Amino acid sequence: MTKKRMLFIVLGLLLLINAGCSGSNESRNETKARAKTETASVKTAQGNDRLPNIRILATGGTIAGANQSKTSTTNYKAGAVGIDTLIEAVPEMKDIANISGEQVANIGSQNMTNKTLLKLSKRAAKLLASDDVDGIVVTHGTDTLEETAYFLNLVLKSDKPVVVVGSMRPSTAIGADGPANLYNAVKVAASKEAYGKGTMVVLNDRIAAARYVTKTHTTAPDTFKSEEMGYLGNIADGIYFHNDITKKHTKDTDFNISKINQLPQVDIIYGYQNDGRYLFDAAIKAGAKGIIYAGSGNGSVSDEAKKGAVAAVKKGAAVVRSTRTGSGVVTPNPDLEKENILASNSLNPQKARILLMLALTKTDDPKKIQSYFEEY
Ligand code: DGL
Repeated sequence: MTKKRMLFIVLGLLLLINAGCSGSNESRNETKARAKTETASVKTAQGNDRLPNIRILATGGTIAGANQSKTSTTNYKAGAVGIDTLIEAVPEMKDIANISGEQVANIGSQNMTNKTLLKLSKRAAKLLASDDVDGIVVTHGTDTLEETAYFLNLVLKSDKPVVVVGSMRPSTAIGADGPANLYNAVKVAASKEAYGKGTMVVLNDRIAAARYVTKTHTTAPDTFKSEEMGYLGNIADGIYFHNDITKKHTKDTDFNISKINQLPQVDIIYGYQNDGRYLFDAAIKAGAKGIIYAGSGNGSVSDEAKKGAVAAVKKGAAVVRSTRTGSGVVTPNPDLEKENILASNSLNPQKARILLMLALTKTDDPKKIQSYFEEY
């Protein structure tokens, strides 16, 4: 072999080795890159699969409120911000759940009507029946939040968590409480422990049963209280459930939203010194099928109001005594029971109204209605 030929062979070999090496580097890199992408997509898919699917139904309220001033927490516009903005404001929710949202309404909750309540409840029921939804969060104005929450608690036929949430400071305020409340609500709705607890209300790091919670303060962020009956639990990074609700709810009630398309008119009459019967007469004339009397103390009814209540019962309406005191049980009163004037147990007037509307979709028998007030 000539020296020249040997040089060619060595060069050729070097080239081949080099080509082989670079070729395998390329494919190694490609494989690595592909592997990386695959791992990423597998991770994403698994991550998503592992997270619960939570649907947020937005209805408005302060949590979606906006104000010109960052320092003012009154006189803002409730229901000014849409569901997408609410979700974008709390991107951390996406680490704990697959979030999707829809706008059911965008109102101050003082404007919540039976029609919107039915629409919201029917939508929630439909979503809960789907395998693609693991839990629901409803954003809501705080003023009548407890009424919507209690209604959902009575008509939804599912064990999946339903959490109603609001805030006391508009989204534009310094120290807005909406984002933390919303994050916590999603956390509760996404948790396995929240199954079968009935509709819950989450604000201010507390988890309350819709049945027991009530708004107690006009402006303070810790307005929602469930002091007499206790909270279901609290949130301190983790979720801590302490109690279960003993009153019947969701799957154990006689009410199914899929069968309810209209609610009867039920009005609330406030008891006070020197009250009369004329508000009862007016309510009946305006079409009331039920009246809640927010009596003083243990549901006391003045002699004049009693005349109105008895007349209303004679016209076929259901009359239930509740209390304006804010807590405690309204106990049965034999004299008033004789007149078929019922007692609300521990339901405050606004929640007694919700239950009476539902009761009247089923029966006008006072005994049966009274049994609902004991059980729910
Ligand atoms: N108007 C009120 C409502 O939507 C705002 C109060 C609130 O959301 O806190 O209920």
